[in-house]
Amino acid sequence: MRTLAAIFLAASVVAAPLAAAAGDIDPEAARAVFEDRCSKCHSLDRALRKNKDRAGWEKTVLRMKRYGSGMISDEDVAAVVEHLTRVRGPNP
Ligand code: HEC
Repeated sequence: MRTLAAIFLAASVVAAPLAAAAGDIDPEAARAVFEDRCSKCHSLDRALRKNKDRAGWEKTVLRMKRYGSGMISDEDVAAVVEHLTRVRGPNP
């Protein structure tokens, strides 16, 4: 039983970054996730008036995920980081 749990844990730790790195997130789907998840506590403008690189957006979105406790999934984080890096990257 313990071995099974360890394998499951190892598999999910490996799978999460792979999914995020796949780069096959549909731009329109990513926009929809951003518009839904990121308008719950403040306006979308709060993000749209900023410019950050991917690492900066990752940091911000992970902080938002913590605030939301359950509102934002790992897939949502990947989609929102993808979307914001594209539309609000470091070079406006
Ligand atoms: C559970 C509530 C909540 C949700 C959901 C939420 N935010 Fe926030 N957000 C906050 C709070 C509270 C602040 C102000 C405190 C801070 O900046 O840490 C904030 C501030 C911000 C800021 C300004 C600070 C900065 O670092 O630039 C940005 C940008 C931002 N949010 C983007 C987002 C994005 C993108 C999403 C969607 C993934 C999101 N927020 C979802 C609560 C939330």
